[in-house]
Amino acid sequence: MDKNSPIGVFDSGVGGSSIWQEIHKLLPFENSIYLADSKNAPYGNKSEAEITALSIKNTEKLLEQGCKIIVVACNTATTNAIETLRENYEIPIIGIEPAIKPAALQTNSKSIGILATKGTLSSALFSRTTQAFTKDISVVEIIGEGLVTLIEAGKLDSPEMISLLKKHTKPMIDANIDFLVLGCSHYPYLIPQLQKILPKNVKIIDSGEAVARQTKIVLQSLNLLREENIKPRLQFYTNVKTNTLRFLLKDYSESISVNKIEF
Ligand code: DGL
Repeated sequence: MDKNSPIGVFDSGVGGSSIWQEIHKLLPFENSIYLADSKNAPYGNKSEAEITALSIKNTEKLLEQGCKIIVVACNTATTNAIETLRENYEIPIIGIEPAIKPAALQTNSKSIGILATKGTLSSALFSRTTQAFTKDISVVEIIGEGLVTLIEAGKLDSPEMISLLKKHTKPMIDANIDFLVLGCSHYPYLIPQLQKILPKNVKIIDSGEAVARQTKIVLQSLNLLREENIKPRLQFYTNVKTNTLRFLLKDYSESISVNKIEF
């Protein structure tokens, strides 16, 4: 493993590519390999044991490719499996968790909303974070039922999507939230749709930038950052059709490769 080894990123599907974009923005010369386990999406309704087994499978695949660090670009996999991954592998592993803390610190209305999967909202790691930072704040937790499946199908602007988003955000709007925390790496792709539905004063936050910053800090501390100004190799793999990944990453089509493989 050396500085030129790729950063390995995985998610239950296409959503973690929103996190990959933040990493690429901050570290544009890093090689990377992204795995979209769309065949097994959504992870959100699976048991902790199933999510852990899938996370191990994805990690092993990235290790086979010689990755120097693993980014678990999935809140559900992080909150259910990161402790097991860190116990089993020596390689640095970065996770993603809902940005509850910044929302709780900045809210004026003392009411925040969180949209995430069932797997994330029911995890022990999530309840520890929530309890630690939201003592005097009301937190409206909503499971984003149905959203990941529509995003995987590329149906971002479909009537089904808009009506699901209206249904999921209604209890939050009624509770006068001023922050909406996106606790699933698929959801940043819904920000334009959410902005049309939510009152103007509601700020939407996600954890993509924080994950990118943490990835940089860890690589720097291990002296594993790649030299600048050398074109990177950016590889994307999915175990279903490539079309949604290509659509979401259309701005990068000149510089990335997207392929279907078995894993
Ligand atoms: N993208 C994943 C997350 O951040 C989960 C989506 C799913 O597979 O349910 O939680």
